[in-house]
Amino acid sequence: MEDEEQRVLNELNLGISELDDQHQAFFLHMVGLRRALIDGMGGRDKLMKTLRFLQGWVQDHFQAEERLMRTHNYPGILVHRLEHEKFAKVVAEFSAKARDLDERGEVTSFLAVEVEHKLENWLTGHIKKMDLKMAEFVKGSS
Ligand SMILES: [Fe+2]
Ligand SMILES: [Fe+2]
Repeated sequence: MEDEEQRVLNELNLGISELDDQHQAFFLHMVGLRRALIDGMGGRDKLMKTLRFLQGWVQDHFQAEERLMRTHNYPGILVHRLEHEKFAKVVAEFSAKARDLDERGEVTSFLAVEVEHKLENWLTGHIKKMDLKMAEFVKGSS
């Protein structure tokens, strides 16, 4: 991982290892997708793999956070869960679109760039806006 990428990850560190590992796995997939695009491989295989990974990831990761929020009676749980649901929908929509295009052999690198860009920005913003606050609360109450 590049220095810049590592620096950004440090800023987003929650100090809760299960969740940090999951965030890191997400970013590593995005880095992989970006590299595949830069290498001029079109990113098609990588895009399909990334989307398959993400569909499992949204389940596992969001459940882990929501479990923690319930355990600690976190007051912001409803808003936070709503954001998770919206994102899971975005992932499902991208996946459906990519599968559809893939069947017709029409997955383009434009789609891969769009996916990479939107999803990565979402997670970065979400961690800053919501996960960090949740982590502060959880660590303070345990
Ligand atoms: Fe998270
Ligand atoms: Fe979250």
